[in-house]
Amino acid sequence: MNHQFSYQAALAASEKVSWRVEDIIGGEKTLDFTKPFLPESLARVEPLSFLSADEKMSLNQIRGHGYLYTFGLVEEFILPFVLDHARPRLNGDDYRVRALLRFADEEAKHIHLFKRFREEFLDGFGSHCEVIGPPREIAQAVLAHHPLGVALAIAHIEWMTQRHYLDSVQGDEQLDPQFKSLLKHHWMEEAQHAKLDTLMIEALRDACSQEELDTAVEEYLKIGCLLDGGLMQQVQFDLESLERAIGHPLSESERDRFFEVQRQAVRWTYLGTGMTHKNFLATLESISPAARMRVEQVSPAFC
Ligand SMILES: [Fe+2]
Ligand SMILES: [Fe+2]
Repeated sequence: MNHQFSYQAALAASEKVSWRVEDIIGGEKTLDFTKPFLPESLARVEPLSFLSADEKMSLNQIRGHGYLYTFGLVEEFILPFVLDHARPRLNGDDYRVRALLRFADEEAKHIHLFKRFREEFLDGFGSHCEVIGPPREIAQAVLAHHPLGVALAIAHIEWMTQRHYLDSVQGDEQLDPQFKSLLKHHWMEEAQHAKLDTLMIEALRDACSQEELDTAVEEYLKIGCLLDGGLMQQVQFDLESLERAIGHPLSESERDRFFEVQRQAVRWTYLGTGMTHKNFLATLESISPAARMRVEQVSPAFC
C-alpha cells in the first residue's frame, strides 16, 4: 500500500486529539432513549415493517447496545496484541515505542468508555439484553491464530470504524447526541490506529516466510468466521431482547424476516464494511494480489 504513515506523525496526531472518558459520559451527559443510537444503514430496522415506530426504536437501541459490547469485546484482543508487538523492540525507535504504547493505552480507554456507556444503557433501557462472550475467551481464540492474520483482523476493525463514522454517523442529525459523541471520539483515535496497524502489518509481513504469507489471508478469514459465529448468536439474543422490550413474541413469519434482515445487517456492520474498505484491500494487496482477490471473492456474502 502506498502511504505516508509514520510512527512520529501518528503519535503527534494522537496527542492532539486526546480526550478523557469523563469528558464524554457521566453527570449531565446521559443517553436519550427517545432517539436512535445507530444510523439506519447499520441498524436496518426499517425493512421490518411489522414493527411499530416505537418497536423499531427499541431494536435500534438494542443494536446500539450490541455495538458497545462488540467493540469492547474486539478491543480485548487488540490491546494485548499491540503490547506484544511493541515489547520485543522497546530500545529501538522512540517514536515507534511511544506510538504503540499510546495505541494500547487508547484501546484500554476505549474498553472503559464502552463499559461506561453500557452501564448508562442498562440503567435506562428498562429490560435485559443478553450478550455473547465472555470477551476473554473470544479474545484468546482470536489470538491463537497467526500474528499476521490477527493484525489483518485488527486493521479490518479500525478501517471499519472510520467508515462507520464518515459514511453513516457524521451527517445523521437524528441520532442521540451522546451516542454520536461516542462514535465521533472513537473515530478520532481509531484514525491513528488504522495507520499504525498498516505499519505493524508491514513489519510482520517482512519477517514472514513465503508459506506464512500464503496462509495469512486464510488465518484472517478463520478469525472472520469465528467472529461471524458469535455475531449470529448475538442476532438470536437481539430477537429475544426485542421481544422482552416490546412485551410480546413475534410470529413465526416475523421471526424469519427478522433473521433475514438482521443477520445481514450485523454482517454488514462488523464484517462487510471492513473487508471492502479500500485501504484494507490495498494492505492485503501488499501481502499478495491473491490475498486481495480471495477476500474480494467472499466479501459479497457480508455486504
Ligand atoms: Fe478503539
Ligand atoms: Fe483501535
